[in-house]
Amino acid sequence: MRSIFGLGGAGHFCLAIGAVVLFGGGASGVAAQNTLVVEGQPRYEPTGYPDRIVLTFSGSPDRSLAVTWRTDTTSVAAVAEIAVAGPGSWLHTAAETVTGRTTTFEAENGVANHHSVVFSDLRPGTLYAYRVGGTDTWSEWFQFRTAQTGFAPFAFLYFGDAQNAVKSHFSRTIRQAALDLPEARTMVFAGDLVNLRDGNHDDEWGEWFDAGGWLHGMIPSIVAAGNHEYVTYSEPTGSVQRLSPHWPVQFTLPEDGPAGLREAVYSVDFQGVRFIQLNSAAALYDDTGETAQQQAAWLEQRLSDNPNRWTVVTFHHPVVSVARGRDNPQIQEAWQPLLERYGVDLVLQGHDHAYGRGANLGNGTAAWTEGTGTMYVVSVSGPKMYLASDEAKTVFDRVAEDTQLYQIVRVEWDRLVYEARTATGELYDAFTLHKAEDGAKRLEDLRPASSERFCEHGDSTLLARGRCSNGTEGGRTTRRGGG
Ligand SMILES: [Fe+2]
Ligand SMILES: [Fe+2]
Repeated sequence: MRSIFGLGGAGHFCLAIGAVVLFGGGASGVAAQNTLVVEGQPRYEPTGYPDRIVLTFSGSPDRSLAVTWRTDTTSVAAVAEIAVAGPGSWLHTAAETVTGRTTTFEAENGVANHHSVVFSDLRPGTLYAYRVGGTDTWSEWFQFRTAQTGFAPFAFLYFGDAQNAVKSHFSRTIRQAALDLPEARTMVFAGDLVNLRDGNHDDEWGEWFDAGGWLHGMIPSIVAAGNHEYVTYSEPTGSVQRLSPHWPVQFTLPEDGPAGLREAVYSVDFQGVRFIQLNSAAALYDDTGETAQQQAAWLEQRLSDNPNRWTVVTFHHPVVSVARGRDNPQIQEAWQPLLERYGVDLVLQGHDHAYGRGANLGNGTAAWTEGTGTMYVVSVSGPKMYLASDEAKTVFDRVAEDTQLYQIVRVEWDRLVYEARTATGELYDAFTLHKAEDGAKRLEDLRPASSERFCEHGDSTLLARGRCSNGTEGGRTTRRGGG
């Protein structure tokens, strides 16, 4: 964990630099609209019982894995136990104790200790059981399997923005996904996990961990930061955007990224796939373009020195937008040429609160370049829904509005099998990328014959703003309006 917040927490950090976090909301009840938490009835205060337990990659996944969790300040040390898992009940007698780092962080629900342990020197392809420490107690035993060394087939899940009403509406998406693919080896999140614009930010993070629940303790996550992981700070020189202080204390992430961006720019090699995470929000908040170029240089190094069979790149802002009135030319200029020159197989994105899938979008065509193409996907898992642009409906091979989705990706040596499924488990989109021994690719489009889904919601105010649903109505109430 690379926390910059030591004892005293973020609130003290803010005071030290004269900044104030613009939480807003407060007594107006705005917070309640985005979470299920009732004002005056705290739901996510830290206790001596470990919570927010999440596995992430740190180091080579065949040899190591990280776990991060939260307690109140009565639990002062990061202590975990790990053993090779077996069917017997005596795990604790065989377990090895591993210690890590604890960071104290103050959020709206109080001062918490965030603990981070990296399990290292593990055996490849081995099922381990572990538990993490609280105050005079432990978490339950969780299990995970280390990666095999080198290529081996596996499957993973990918989610677009959860962001709003996360407990209310995202829960069913991630839970249906896990029931659909219980053998998932990682879950990829393309940013905007939470909203962080008003109300109680810590409640929103509490809901994100609540939605995934124990899955986060069993299936490692790959998280990319979106613009909603950035918080607006008011400073004498004006407002500035900084990565949420929750991010580095809640996720223990690989540290191979470029200087200054290590919290959200990193790569993971898992059984023949290089997963690369970029921080498009940081790139776009920097008007000079330097942050985009810094990541481009790092990306090119990762792509040019890549021994893996497949490459999957994740970032939040799409190369080509699905939603109306949105475009990210800086990303197109800085990153897209590299993605295609180095034959990245799959680019997983979010931000647009709609679904779009297509190839070679920068050329304004949905045509797949035989042998070398890169496939781009934009998706959404939560309830906030934007309308697709007319151009997107032409350029993308498959589009959806007002559809909560998760994606299943199965990786084999000679093919990558992709499926987008609705929150109700129905197949919405599919393709297979075939790859020959020489690396030449062939696209097999397997989209179902069902009609594309478009917004049927009738709220003219929302529609005029290019939206089908704000998503924030899904807290304690249902979506407003008819249709
Ligand atoms: Fe978003
Ligand atoms: Fe976004």
